[in-house]
Amino acid sequence: MKIAIIGTGYVGLVTGACLAYKGHQVTCVDKREGIVATINNMESPIYEPGLEGILQQVVSSGSLKATGDTKAAVEEAAVTIIAVGTPLGEGGIDLGQVKQAAQEIGAALKGKEEYHVVCVKSTVVPTTTDTVVKGILEQFSGKQSGEFGLAMNPEFLREGNAVADFMLPDRIVIGADDASSLEVMKRVYAGFEVPMVATNLRTAEMIKYTANALLATLISYANEIAGFCEATGDVDVQDVFAAVVLDRRLTPRIGEEIICPEVLSYLQAGCGYGGSCFPKDLQALEAYAREKGCNPRLVSATIATNAEQAERIVQRLEGALGSLEGKKTTVLGLAFKPGTDDIRDSPALKIIRGLLAKGAKVSATDPFALERAKALGLQGVTYTEDYEAALRGAEAVLLVTPWRQYVEIPAEKYVLLMAHPLVVDCRRALDRGRLEGAGAIYIGVGLT
Ligand SMILES: NC(=O)c1ccc[n+]([C@@H]2O[C@H](COP(=O)([O-])OP(=O)(O)OC[C@H]3O[C@@H](n4cnc5c(N)ncnc54)[C@H](O)[C@@H]3O)[C@@H](O)[C@H]2O)c1
Repeated sequence: MKIAIIGTGYVGLVTGACLAYKGHQVTCVDKREGIVATINNMESPIYEPGLEGILQQVVSSGSLKATGDTKAAVEEAAVTIIAVGTPLGEGGIDLGQVKQAAQEIGAALKGKEEYHVVCVKSTVVPTTTDTVVKGILEQFSGKQSGEFGLAMNPEFLREGNAVADFMLPDRIVIGADDASSLEVMKRVYAGFEVPMVATNLRTAEMIKYTANALLATLISYANEIAGFCEATGDVDVQDVFAAVVLDRRLTPRIGEEIICPEVLSYLQAGCGYGGSCFPKDLQALEAYAREKGCNPRLVSATIATNAEQAERIVQRLEGALGSLEGKKTTVLGLAFKPGTDDIRDSPALKIIRGLLAKGAKVSATDPFALERAKALGLQGVTYTEDYEAALRGAEAVLLVTPWRQYVEIPAEKYVLLMAHPLVVDCRRALDRGRLEGAGAIYIGVGLT
C-alpha cells in the first residue's frame, strides 16, 4: 500500500520506517530540508535504538523515501498519516501544524480521483479530527467527507523503545469516520497480530489522553508520597511502595511466581515526568476539560505536583550544602530518560534552571543529548562528554537521567574526583550503602 506521512519527527519517522519494513511503500514528508536529506542518506536524524538499521534497509530497497513535497506524496498515496507536532500553545493545544498539514493535504486531494484516507496520528484533543481536520479537508479539497476517508490512530510508542513499541504494540486503536476508512486502516496494519480497537474518532482521541494522564498520575502520586516520607524522616518511599504493590490486586500470583506488571514502574519516586508528551498532553487535557465546563481536579493536581518536584530537589540540595551561590554542581544526564536524545521538557533542564537561579555553576553531561542541550544557550552551564571531567572539583552531583554508565559510576570516583562528594540521587537508582561506605554523602528522593 502507498502511504504518505506528513511530519517526520520521532513518531512520523518511526511509523514510516516500520510500515515500510512491513511491506508498504512509504513517503515521509517534512518541512525541514535537513531531515529529508538525512533520511534519504539512510541516516537517522534522531537517536532511537534500532531505527538507523531499519532505515538503511528500507531506503536502500526503495520502500521509503523522504521529500518536502506534500502534494506529490499525497497524490501518489492511498493513505496520508498526519504525524506533525501538537505543542502546547496559549491556553491549550496548538493545532497550527495540524491545520497547516490538513490544508496542504486537502489541496492535494482536490484533483485526485481515487479514494484516499487521511489519518491523524498526532495527539489531538477530542473533536479535533471530526471538526477541525474534517472541516479544513472539506474546504481545501472541495469534497465532502465520505468522498475521502478520515481516521484517528493515536500512537503509544515510547521514545527509547520506539521501534519495538511500534512493531509490537500493546494495541492498535483506530477511530474511523465510516466503514470504508476503517477497512483501509485495517490494511495499513494488516501485518500486526495485536488487539485492534475499532472505535469512533473522538473515542480514539480520548483514549490517548486518558492513557497518558493515568501514567502521569501514578508518577505524581509516587512523588507526592515521597515528599511525605522526606518530611516524616526514617521512612523510605521505596520500602513503602515495595510493600504496597505486594497487594495481589497489583501483583497477581501464578503459583509461586509474583507477576509484576510494568505499569507499577510508574509508581517510582523521582524528579518528575518530562519529555515531549506527558507535560504537554496533561496541560492540553486540563485546558480542554475546562473549555468543556469540567473541573479537571486530578489532572491539575498531577501537573502541580510534577511542577514542584524539580524545585524540591534543588531546595533539598540547598538545605544540605547551604547557599548555592558560586558552587560548582554537576548534572549527570540531560535527556528526559535514558535511550533517547530528546530533551523536551526534561526534568534535567528544570533542575539546571533551578540551580542557575540560585547562583550555582553547572557542569552537565549526557551521552547523546549534549548538542540539543547546547543549542538552548543556557548561560552558566558548561557541557562535556566526559563525566569524570564534569565531576572534577564539584561540590554536589545530581544523577538526573539514569543512563547505565552513570548508575554504574564506582562510589569511590565521586570521593576521588569531587571537592565535596555530595550525591543527589534524583531517580533512586544508586546504592546508598556503597556511596556512604566510600565516604560520599547521599541524598535520595523520598527518604531522609
Ligand atoms: N514523541 C513521542 O514519543 C510521541 C509518542 C506518541 C505520540 N506523539 C505525538 O505525535 C505527534 C508528533 O510528535 P513528534 O515527537 O514526532 O513531533 P516532532 O516535533 O518531533 O516532529 C514533527 C515534525 O513535523 C514536521 N512538520 C510540521 N508541520 C509540517 C507540515 N505541514 N508538513 C511537513 N512536515 C511538517 C516538523 O518539521 C517536524 O519534523 C505529536 O502530536 C505528539 O504528541 C509523540
